[in-house]
This record gives sequence, structure tokens and C-alpha cells, in this order.
Amino acid sequence: MKLALYHPHAKDYDSDSVMTDYYHRKGKELFCEDVSLRILAEKYGTPLFVYSLGSARASLKRYQEAFKKYDPIIAYAVKANPCLELVKSLAAEGCGADVVSGGELDRALRAGVPPSKIVFAGVGKSTNEMEAGLKAGILMFNVESIPELQLLADKAKSLGKTAPVAIRINPDVDPRTHAYISTGKKESKFGLDIRAAMEAYKLAVELPHIEPIGLHCHIGSQITLTSPFVQAAEKVSRLISEIRELGADIKFLDLGGGLGIQYDDEEPPTPADMANEIGTFLDAIGCRLVLEPGRSMTGPAGVLLTRVHYVKITPVNRYVIVDAAMNDLARPALYDAYHSVDHITESSDRETTKCDIVGPICETGDFLARGRVMPVPVRDDLLSIGCAGAYGMAMSSNYNIRGRAAEILVDGSKHKLVRLRETYEDILKTELEAPNEWN
Ligand code: LLP
Repeated sequence: MKLALYHPHAKDYDSDSVMTDYYHRKGKELFCEDVSLRILAEKYGTPLFVYSLGSARASLKRYQEAFKKYDPIIAYAVKANPCLELVKSLAAEGCGADVVSGGELDRALRAGVPPSKIVFAGVGKSTNEMEAGLKAGILMFNVESIPELQLLADKAKSLGKTAPVAIRINPDVDPRTHAYISTGKKESKFGLDIRAAMEAYKLAVELPHIEPIGLHCHIGSQITLTSPFVQAAEKVSRLISEIRELGADIKFLDLGGGLGIQYDDEEPPTPADMANEIGTFLDAIGCRLVLEPGRSMTGPAGVLLTRVHYVKITPVNRYVIVDAAMNDLARPALYDAYHSVDHITESSDRETTKCDIVGPICETGDFLARGRVMPVPVRDDLLSIGCAGAYGMAMSSNYNIRGRAAEILVDGSKHKLVRLRETYEDILKTELEAPNEWN
């Protein structure tokens, strides 16, 4: 059947195209795979996150195929969307995990990710987190400083274990993305510059409870050009022979994540484009490849459904006040990020208008979209916010004592509720009421 192409991020849809994405219209109604978003919103309420498993699986497959020559471990960056059922489904397709906390490690293990496919990054690992990684027998710790390396060695010794490590290199490459999510420039807190990294490898070779087996590099997120990846791959791959000369048997090259997605009119490269561009470096070094995609795996797979509470027209603006807010999706408030907004039931017969889609939170920064031109929204309309599958729920909060949204997984014509909407009692659970004791 021919379906209207619906891109969660496109400004309109083209009824002559075949479906290429996992969100599309059937008649006037927006669907995720074969499930009506209107029915989900009515059944489970809003705000509601919906994730297409088909989309997430297809992204994983694109990576697995594009890099198959390098026997890749696709270590999904759990931080992008740690939804347990979602991670389980990816693990079932052979996916690994990139974790940055004990909590993410716990989740990856619960989801059935084999420890041999888990990498652990982060500038501030605690000794408890190191212990958990060592006990689980993860593939490697991506170490970001010399003090961390020393502490890891001590911890491994006390447990009678050897810690497999990669040193995270900061290659001083500009990923040309938002400053807050740029990590590979020398000013950033991440990794070690090349000279310091060589020192770290020397030490790693000497330390008895450390085994340097890899090299790690992650330069930033939402990168829409191939050139920063090429520059980084070139710089780090050149180092591998030098590191091997120090006596380290480098078997894994972990090039991190960072591939951008199309929120608006970006044209990010695909994994296949990446493989073409960096293949020459990979061919030369004979390492097994690790990649840590987050956003590009689950971002386009998800939408956030919301309902219009009120429309308020001021002398300067039309505010569409919806029931989702910056506590559900922080990206617009935090990075001035663009997310598409579409009516769930098509309304192209209405006049178009320019409006701001805002939440109920008491901050002017609480907006989901600004200056958006769309068919005029009215009270009770259901809207879908596109590309909300990565860094949406993951960065949500209880600000203004708002419970977190519920989450739904869709697989073909089936759906399941995988997270309940948070109640006020849930939020109160860890808070102690008086009369507790002063110490
Ligand atoms: N590996 C490491 C070590 C990372 O720090 C990250 C993301 C990734 C992999 C995954 O990167 P991705 O493929 O998702 O670009 N909250 C921001 C994004 C922060 C990214 C942090 N690190 C946002 O909403 O845009």
C-alpha cells in the first residue's frame, strides 16, 4: 500500500511518496508503524512518549551493515534513551552498550546486554562504579585521566582482577555542533590530549592490574558533517602503532557516537557515508571497531504526544499552551533545539498561523517550539513533537512537581505500555516527611 510519507521532522508531507519512515499518515491520522497516535494519546493520556521499535532496529542494522567488515560492536549510548524494554530489544538484535554511570551499567545488564559488549566512559567514575564494572567483566573502561587510571588499578588489585582499558583521546577536533555538546576540542573536560594520552598508555602498560586493549575517542553529538569524524579518525588511528610500540596490545578502536539526525533541514551523513569516509584508516590498523551511537539510534524512533490546553493571544504572540513542558523535553529550553510539531489528526483545512508552543512551567524558557507556522491549533488538539526518542525522557525532571510522562513501545501493529505515568506519591517516595530527626 502506498502511504503518505511522513517525516516527523519535515514541514509537510508528500502524498505521492512511499513510506520511508516509521511515522506516516493513514488518511488524516498520524501513525507510528501500524498504531494510531490518536488512539494511544486517548488511551494513555498525554504527555506521552512513543517509540517505534522498527525504527530503532533499522538504525542498529544500518550501523551493523555499514561497518561489518570491522566486526563492529555497536555499543548503544544508553544515556540517549535508557528505557529498559527498548534497550532489551536492541540487545536482542546483538547491540552492546556504552554506559557512563553505575545506573546505566545496571540497566544495560538488566536489559541482557552481554558484559563483553559494554564500554564504560565518563570523566568522574566513582570507585563503586569501577567495582561494578570490574565485577560484571565489561569489555573496557574508557579512562579519561591519570588519577582515574591509578584508582582503577588499585580497585582492580583489591578485587584480584585486571581492568581492560582504553584511554579516551581528546583529538582537538571541532565537531561544528552546539557548544554544550562538543567534547573533542582541547578546551573540553573530556579525554586526554595526545601527549598526555601517550603518558597514560606508558603507565597503563606498567600497572600490573591494568591491561590497555583499546583506544577511545568521542568528539561530540549531533554532528552533521563527515569531516570532523574523518579528522578524528585520522589523528587517533595514526597513534595506534606508537601505542603498540609501548607494549600495549590495542585490539579495539572505539570511535564514540555523535552522528546527527534530521530535526529540521539538516542533512546528516548515514553510517554508510561514515564507513566510506573513515574506512581507509580502519583498514590500516586492524582493530575491532566499537561505535557508541545514541541519538541516531533512538532519536527519530520517538515522538512526544501532547494536548493543547489553551490558546492565548497577546498583542505580540499566539501562545499554544500544551500539557508537555521543559521537564518532559528539555532540549528546546536548554539548547534552543528545533523539534517538529504536527497535528496528530491532519488539519490542513485550517488557516495557518505563527505560534509558540509552550508548556505550563513557570519560566519563559519553557517552550517546545517558537515562531512555528502551522495550521492553527485549538483547545484539545493533539500534537506530536518529532525526534523526541533521544535525550527526551532521559533528561526529564520533576520540575514544578510534574510527574514524568508514560512511555509506549510500538512494534508493527502492537504496542505496550513500558513506563507508567509518575504519580505525586512516586515523586514523594524518597522524601522524608517531618517529624524526622535533626542530627
Ligand atoms: N559516547 C559518549 C562518550 C558520549 O558522551 C555520548 C553523548 C555518546 C557516545 C552518544 O552520542 P550521540 O550518538 O547520541 O550523539 N543532551 C544532548 C546530547 C548530549 C550527548 C552526550 N554524550 C542533546 O540533547 O542534544
